[in-house]
Amino acid sequence: MKSLREIISNKPYMGWILFAATLVIVFLLGLLASSIIERRAEAVFAYKPQVDYPDWEPRNALWGKNFPREYQSYLRTSDTAFRSKYNGSAFIDMLEVDPRMVVLWAGYSFSKDYNQSRGHYYAVTDNRNILRTGGPAATTPSPQPNTCWTCKSPDVPRLMKTIGPAEFYKGTWESKGHEIVNPIGCADCHDATTMNLRISRPALTEAFQRMGKDITAVTHQEMRSLVCAQCHVEYYFDMSRFEDVQYLVYPWDKGMTVDDMEKYYDAYAFSDWTHAISKAPMLKAQHPDYEVFLTGVHAKRGVACADCHMPYKSEGGQKFTDHHIQSPLNNIANSCQVCHREETDELIADVYERQDRIIENRDKLEELLVRAHVEAGKAWELGAREEQMEGILSLIRQAQWRWDYAAAGHGNSFHSPVEISRIIAAGIGRSQEARVKLARLLASLGFNEELPYPDIDTKAKAQAFIGLDMQKLNAEKAEFLRTMVPEWMKQAEEREKAWDEKTRQ
Ligand code: HEC
Ligand code: HEC
Ligand code: HEC
Ligand code: HEC
Repeated sequence: MKSLREIISNKPYMGWILFAATLVIVFLLGLLASSIIERRAEAVFAYKPQVDYPDWEPRNALWGKNFPREYQSYLRTSDTAFRSKYNGSAFIDMLEVDPRMVVLWAGYSFSKDYNQSRGHYYAVTDNRNILRTGGPAATTPSPQPNTCWTCKSPDVPRLMKTIGPAEFYKGTWESKGHEIVNPIGCADCHDATTMNLRISRPALTEAFQRMGKDITAVTHQEMRSLVCAQCHVEYYFDMSRFEDVQYLVYPWDKGMTVDDMEKYYDAYAFSDWTHAISKAPMLKAQHPDYEVFLTGVHAKRGVACADCHMPYKSEGGQKFTDHHIQSPLNNIANSCQVCHREETDELIADVYERQDRIIENRDKLEELLVRAHVEAGKAWELGAREEQMEGILSLIRQAQWRWDYAAAGHGNSFHSPVEISRIIAAGIGRSQEARVKLARLLASLGFNEELPYPDIDTKAKAQAFIGLDMQKLNAEKAEFLRTMVPEWMKQAEEREKAWDEKTRQ
């Protein structure tokens, strides 16, 4: 090869070309540097706070003045238009879709009312509207404790900051209703001064401590899931820690799988309620989204909740995190196609295929469980003794725990299809085992035929079958919404106005 000097001495014009090219490159580099500096300046400018507020400010609109893009996208969680095949942000009455659930939860508040989740914007409203919190009035308290507010509002960490978690959980649900008015928002996930992600719920920090882990030592990518694990997890109310307090606890001490958590509950002989028909000591799974997600391939490859549910978005040359948390199927381009090259239709089909296949077996398990409860009820009726029923009821408890664990997380079938299929299969096995034992027991009690499947093909029929007085429940709720809630709003408005006056002074 010839040296540069040789080339230039043979063809002098090459020297000039080289010189010009260098000039152009230097010029372009200069442009690039100036653009970077400008963007930096822009970013600093954009983050200059327009308003000041204290660390636990619960009003999202105030934070929104400093971070309008994030706030505007957050507000879109109020949009209820999108429906996917099974999920989405629309209101869906799950008991109407699947009346078997009414029988599975007989004797427990979920049989009254259970809906598919909407956006974060509705968290407080939906908690007030749901029949499970009851229709409290001046002399009748709610059947639920204040613990039920914990995952609904940034007013929760605000209040916990001053009175501590135990005092927060204490008392029936209506007693702190006037305090909890702002829906899930900025202060739930962010530190107001640094805007870093932060854990605002003590139950998660305490669960980590008991597992010997330090939640302040996790990676940034882990935090992008852990902020969600403040609420999207399995939990229960522990009555043994403080007097008269239903303390919020995550049952993770023995591990985070469905089997580990069952061992934890069994060790305490804990049950959420006694089934009204079978008398089985039941567990209610909440929504173990985080725990199930951890068993799936996306978690194993280091993908976080925020990667799919809060993807980056660009607007006016600024890249920011889309705070419209929703079903990713409404935004495949940003949620999936940053990592996957497949067409939109194909990716949606992947999700539906997993959901369809799992739901087929989940429905079968529900039917087996309805039969098992009804057959156990018949055995009691015919004079079965405690010791004859014990093993059977234990199998029913185990089977339904697995069903609920799989069904309660609406993203489970996609987040971890193999684990969810395993759990449902284990539930089917246990419910069949219970029914074989029940058939033998019923025969020994002189009943040797198949019990007919109850007529429960609508929510109304199923609720009548378990003996719920829906008219009364609905009337109490309507009265509560008409009288007590406006009173709460008035008190809250005065409280917040007083804060603003204090700041202005
Ligand atoms: C459920 C948790 C959650 C809530 C609620 C939330 N954020 Fe965020 N926010 C995040 C996550 C996750 C990120 C990405 C952080 C990262 O990767 O560093 C983020 C990032 C941000 C950023 C950094 C810039 C960006 O866009 O990436 C700002 C500013 C921000 N959020 C503002 C807000 C405001 C304002 C609100 C209230 C209207 C809010 N957030 C509510 C979780 C939340
Ligand atoms: C403070 C508690 C809390 C935190 C933190 C939280 N969520 Fe939620 N989330 C809820 C509640 C409560 C609902 C149901 C709201 C309703 O139905 O009114 C919900 C609903 C949802 C939905 C359903 C929305 C729809 O349109 O169908 C998704 C998806 C979701 N959350 C994902 C996340 C992700 C991802 C994170 C973390 C970045 C997160 N959530 C953090 C409590 C929380
Ligand atoms: C941040 C990157 C990332 C994002 C975002 C992402 N994926 Fe994935 N996905 C992966 C990786 C990595 C794997 C594992 C592939 C492997 O290791 O071979 C995977 C695996 C899968 C699989 C096969 C595994 C299974 O569970 O059966 C499906 C289907 C899938 N992704 C669909 C989606 C869909 C739908 C979305 C959007 C809602 C999405 N992914 C978003 C990275 C991502
Ligand atoms: C790889 C992408 C991906 C990741 C990561 C992911 N999800 Fe999902 N999630 C989905 C998809 C796809 C669905 C199904 C949406 C549907 O059926 O409309 C879903 C559904 C949900 C739903 C029900 C949504 C609804 O409309 O009711 C919730 C809640 C949820 N996910 C929470 C989480 C939480 C919490 C995490 C982290 C622990 C997480 N997701 C991680 C893709 C993801």
